[in-house]
Amino acid sequence: MRKAIALVSLTVAIAAATNASAVTVTLACGTVGQELQLCKDGATRWAKKTGNIVKIFESPNLTNDRLGLYQQQLAAKSSDIDVYQLDVVWPGFLAQHFVDLKGKVPAAEVNAHFKGIIDANTVNGKLVAMPWFTDAGLLFYRTDLLKKYGFSAAPKTWTELALMASKVQAGEQKTNKSFAGYVWQGKNYEGLTCDAMEWLVSFGGGTIVDSTGKITINNAQAAKALDTAASWIKTISPAGVTTYGEEEARGIFQSGNAMFMRNWPYAWALGQGDDSKVKGKIGVAPLPSGGSRNAATLGGWQLGVSTYSKNQAAAIELVRYLSGPAEQKIRAIEGTYNPTIQALYKDKDILKANPFFGSLYSVFTSAVARPSGPTKGKYNQVSQAFSSTVSDVLNGKMKGQAAVAKLSTDLARIKGRGW
Ligand code: GLC
Repeated sequence: MRKAIALVSLTVAIAAATNASAVTVTLACGTVGQELQLCKDGATRWAKKTGNIVKIFESPNLTNDRLGLYQQQLAAKSSDIDVYQLDVVWPGFLAQHFVDLKGKVPAAEVNAHFKGIIDANTVNGKLVAMPWFTDAGLLFYRTDLLKKYGFSAAPKTWTELALMASKVQAGEQKTNKSFAGYVWQGKNYEGLTCDAMEWLVSFGGGTIVDSTGKITINNAQAAKALDTAASWIKTISPAGVTTYGEEEARGIFQSGNAMFMRNWPYAWALGQGDDSKVKGKIGVAPLPSGGSRNAATLGGWQLGVSTYSKNQAAAIELVRYLSGPAEQKIRAIEGTYNPTIQALYKDKDILKANPFFGSLYSVFTSAVARPSGPTKGKYNQVSQAFSSTVSDVLNGKMKGQAAVAKLSTDLARIKGRGW
């Protein structure tokens, strides 16, 4: 592993020439969309300010691959990475490897963040990481095509979405064979867990496991939600959707080849970029309802300091800087990374760059958590069992009802005597 890190890491900031006490901190950055660049930029600003050196470790872009790599590092008690970027569903099972930031980050700084996100980062009283940005699933759509096909608003229900997507797809395919009605994350990985949870909750089918730890997946609404999603494949979504992650879906939408896309907010800044074919033609709405409610899965990333780090003091300073308001503001404006600091949702510059941060504020505050809290150390197994089952339904191997019944049994086995 040491070798792998040396190969992909690069020094981004050497501002230490005049600072005899400079330390080197290695920061693991994500690589989805503009993530890597913005992470490097922030690290560089901190390095310049403090005279320290930051090395960047480039993480793979699928969250499951990142987790695998980080778990290897942490299990080996490696000191190679000082600051890790943690997915909101990880603190529960990675807590033991991270420094308790309570008391080390001033309480006023901690309390400026949404309480729910601080809670998600607090495991048995330990503050495992500081929130960096939050995420919620959104529906992106083409405003120009909405108008062209005579629709007045984004779809409010999945039924409406399917009807609209199929009309636009039929029309556009006359001149563009690769045009798709709806693109989303259908590959078997954590991203599918996120999309599929949105379907379940929107149909009133629960959250796989409820907040008390009870397995709730075996119900008719959940089955209906999965069957509905399966019906989109090869009708309004291309067969290939079962291999898409976030970036594949974004690539199709941004090149002008889709009417609707489910994605995280980061897709906005890129879609409005100068090299985007859909610049100025993008609308953002809540994901449709399946009859129960509009549902967005809560995502997001935090920064934690490894207990194996040899430079903990400097690493904590880096985390405070990156998770602080100035840096969150820059990232919100340049990359549409949703701040975790509540006050920033009133910032005029941020709202100007991302109008939907204001108009869809309630989507962000009512986003639904995956069951990582109640399933604790077993969350990853639960999520993998869920996404594999969903994948079987999408690929036509099973119908919804049989799938949720089987999954319920599998989850009971994973749960054993308790989570
Ligand atoms: C985004 C979310 C994260 C989620 C991942 C799934 O990165 O922020 O929470 O697990 O997507 O692909």
